[in-house]
Amino acid sequence: MSNSKFDPKEAHKLTDPRRLEYESPELVWETLNLASPGVIVDIGAGTGYYTIPFCEKTTEGLVYACDSSPEMLEKLNERIPSSCTERIITVKNEEKSIPLDSGTADLVIMANLHHEVEDQQGIIDESVRLLNSGGLLTVIDWGPKESPIGPPLHMRVSGDVIAGQFRAAGLIEIQQHEVLKYHTFTVGRKL
Ligand SMILES: C[S@@+](CC[C@H](N)C(=O)[O-])C[C@H]1O[C@@H](n2cnc3c(N)ncnc32)[C@H](O)[C@@H]1O
Repeated sequence: MSNSKFDPKEAHKLTDPRRLEYESPELVWETLNLASPGVIVDIGAGTGYYTIPFCEKTTEGLVYACDSSPEMLEKLNERIPSSCTERIITVKNEEKSIPLDSGTADLVIMANLHHEVEDQQGIIDESVRLLNSGGLLTVIDWGPKESPIGPPLHMRVSGDVIAGQFRAAGLIEIQQHEVLKYHTFTVGRKL
């Protein structure tokens, strides 16, 4: 495992309510403007910053919360609200291989993961494999500009680089939303 991986001892930072001021899952959900997705896959789910509110936004949708760290998945499991106990399924994945069926997801989201991944194109290609036709891939990560918090600049990539990775994976209708203060937010659709 590379030393760029998130340290589970820092998990409390992911649930710090101050995050909501600059990275609102509610705003991301509204921007995506999805018509009740049946299956969502959150890769690098951590403690469920997106998994949990996205589950709560649907009444019947399933959310597969994937993470390569069993410790993070344990912490996520402890936070699942009663309304989602049957609808959030935690999945331990390998670095760029997700043990889920192809063509099943309406939405794959990867948030604050890209800068930790060595083979970014590999995890994007794997995400696209999971999507159904018409499904959306969303990558949210720290933008390449100085910010008072966030990973070192040398670990960050621009929205244009991510959009290029989306194109290489065959996604269409690629958009970059500038609604988050420090993050890039890139969305593409599978043909
Ligand atoms: C910075 S945290 C972000 C968690 C969550 N998405 C959020 O925004 O709060 C990154 C997470 O990605 C996980 N991770 C790192 N590499 C991964 C990979 N290749 N596949 C799945 N999870 C990975 C880490 O274990 C960690 O839980």
